[in-house]
Amino acid sequence: DNKKAFTYMKIFITKKIPQKGIDLLQSAGHEITIHESARPLSEKELIEASQQCNYVLNGGMQNFDAHFFENCPNLKALSLMSVGYDNVDISAATQHGIPVSNTPGILSGATADVAFLLMLAVSRKAFFNHKRILQGKWEGFDPTENLGIELNNKTLGIYGLGRIGFELARKARAAYNMEIIYYNRSRNKEAERVLGAKYVHFDELLRRSDVLSIHAALTAETKSRFDKNAFARMKNSAILVNTARGGLVNEFDLTAALQAGELWGAGLDVTNPEPMRPDNPLLGMDNVCILPHIGSATVETRDNMALMAANNLLAAIRGEKMPQIINE
Ligand code: DGY
Repeated sequence: DNKKAFTYMKIFITKKIPQKGIDLLQSAGHEITIHESARPLSEKELIEASQQCNYVLNGGMQNFDAHFFENCPNLKALSLMSVGYDNVDISAATQHGIPVSNTPGILSGATADVAFLLMLAVSRKAFFNHKRILQGKWEGFDPTENLGIELNNKTLGIYGLGRIGFELARKARAAYNMEIIYYNRSRNKEAERVLGAKYVHFDELLRRSDVLSIHAALTAETKSRFDKNAFARMKNSAILVNTARGGLVNEFDLTAALQAGELWGAGLDVTNPEPMRPDNPLLGMDNVCILPHIGSATVETRDNMALMAANNLLAAIRGEKMPQIINE
């Protein structure tokens, strides 16, 4: 008899994820524990819960540092329901022999949509004007007030031209015939061929962009890359958009640059820290639009992310390579 006894694996899910992902894991017969509360787990709680399990699916913004991997000897794999993995010490995971996977590709369209939304919203001061109505300050049509700037034929600079940056560039070219320039670790030949994107140095990206949209991962190298020196080199009429990670932007410097009129405005879907405190001065500015990290937050995309994260975990459980493994 060569039938192997089926072993139930224990899976810990760090935050409630779309039901499709949970159903998929459950249909494979594994035992699942979910941290249902909206409150993130403390470091201690995360370790304690993960120690009881062999597999972890991260649905939230938890940090997995070297201390975590040292303290979870039974852990076999970690599946992230996110494309970003700046919250994981990948080299520590690798040292402990733990494969880690993410959810690239499927969220690029949704995230680029939010970058597009912010670019347009800032250019037309949409959030500010909405606030004026709520505050009873809409006194009637005015031919000289509330003027925005147009995006047609302007230059879109992309910092980090990967999948999400490509999607934004594609939409911006189609909608506004924007010229695409980009800075990246390596050349993106497809974007150059399909979109006519032009590779430039960081300094040129800063100087020439009418809209500068950030799509790079947060790493030691990109941390606070957008600081006062960067803002000083940008056009006073430029719009900064960030849908990547808050840590790429020095928010203190951004606030000062906006106050000094060194930029036209900023649109942020990510902040540092998250959540942003409601008394943050950026929230009160006319030329700033802020969203609460909703880049991938559509029904379709979140379902796909949950399924991809579950499938990665199931592959690891079957002893196969996780399809979206980060640390091969
Ligand atoms: C991602 O996928 O990285 C999103 O920012 C959610 O974490």
